[in-house]
Amino acid sequence: MRSILILSGSPKEVIDGVRYYASVNGVQGFLTAKTLALKGNQVTVIMPDDESYEDCENLRIITKKSDGTVIVSAEDMVKAASEVCAENKFDLAIQLANTASFKAHKPVSQKLKVKDNDLVSFEIEKNTDLFLHLQSLGLPVIEEPDELNEKPVLKSPAREPKTKELIGIKVIVSSGAVSEILTAKNDVITNFSSGKQGFEIAYALADRGADVLLIAGNVHLPEPSHTHIKTIYVQSTEEMLKACQKGLPAHAYIGVAAVADFGIKTVINNIEEYFASDRVRTIEMKQNPDILSYFGHLKETRPEIVIGFAAETHDLLSYAEQKLHKKNADVIFANSVSKDNNAMGSDNNRVYMITKNKTVDCGYSSKYRVGEIIAEIISSNPKLFPALQK
Ligand code: PMT
Repeated sequence: MRSILILSGSPKEVIDGVRYYASVNGVQGFLTAKTLALKGNQVTVIMPDDESYEDCENLRIITKKSDGTVIVSAEDMVKAASEVCAENKFDLAIQLANTASFKAHKPVSQKLKVKDNDLVSFEIEKNTDLFLHLQSLGLPVIEEPDELNEKPVLKSPAREPKTKELIGIKVIVSSGAVSEILTAKNDVITNFSSGKQGFEIAYALADRGADVLLIAGNVHLPEPSHTHIKTIYVQSTEEMLKACQKGLPAHAYIGVAAVADFGIKTVINNIEEYFASDRVRTIEMKQNPDILSYFGHLKETRPEIVIGFAAETHDLLSYAEQKLHKKNADVIFANSVSKDNNAMGSDNNRVYMITKNKTVDCGYSSKYRVGEIIAEIISSNPKLFPALQK
């Protein structure tokens, strides 16, 4: 039996406080690692810290570097690989991590802002090549063929409504991270949204009898098996907009998804050629359609209730108030993406409910509780009483 080092998962190349570059090639490196471990090989897997895995015999998982910091990017994986190779001897390395072809030239910690109709550009540089790095450590390296590419569909336990208070109400909920394809090699620009907040809202509303159309971007959550939730998966902003439009008419639209504000103007076909003469290149982006604003400004088919979310790294309430007016939403839930409350990815959330007349601090609660607050907004709206009494 052999001692094998595997690089797995999808490292994130951070752009700013909420966005990153990644690859969506979808190789399931962990499944390969588990299979090899079950066959009796000693397998060490290096993977980003936020990805799920199961413990198993003969399998060692490394998600942190020796200084205790978590693995996020390809560069972190390189450091972790060098550290682990300095202390262990491996017979073989397998490069199965889905790395982005490039990374941000100068990542920043704040959320980058863009004014309406402005062209945005990002400075990028070629990403670290994990395959070459493993070779430079003196290891025989292979890249597995793509036969394990099929993403397993995880289903949540079956569930049905517990009460009838929202029977007759149809709601569209958008959730998770939208990814915009940047290159022919499936590199994307995306963000840290996990989909948890949108899924929990969908559950809270469906548990009360509402019919929920859940439009999900890139998420790693089990697909809801709720009798009152229909889930549709999309990748890009355009796809999300179309899927949301198809859901009309609806009584409420709840935009929880972290929609990509920009997509690339022209998809890059050949990365090698692209970086042939310059180490740093500037990609031009174009502004994407605004789905919440689209729903807010609909005329005859505008849902009675249009709710958005705002995630900000700073000036949370003032940006959220601007969004309420600009997008003609009825409510904006503002949540912070900071050390105090990292709304993205966590199980709990602190939200502020902002309407035209008031701002209410809803406190720190489970993401399901935020869904309950939305259920109360829907069930107490007099314009929806006829639909509710069906
Ligand atoms: O998924 P989780 O890990 O649970 O995290 C939840 C969350 C933090 C992503 C969620 O609670 C949240 O805040 N979602 C909105 C994210 C955001 O920053 O949106 P925004 O500020 O870029 O946009 C404000 C609103 O406009 C949102 O309702 C968004 O869906 C909508 N929008 C934005 C851009 C765009 N092109 N179309 C849109 O509809």
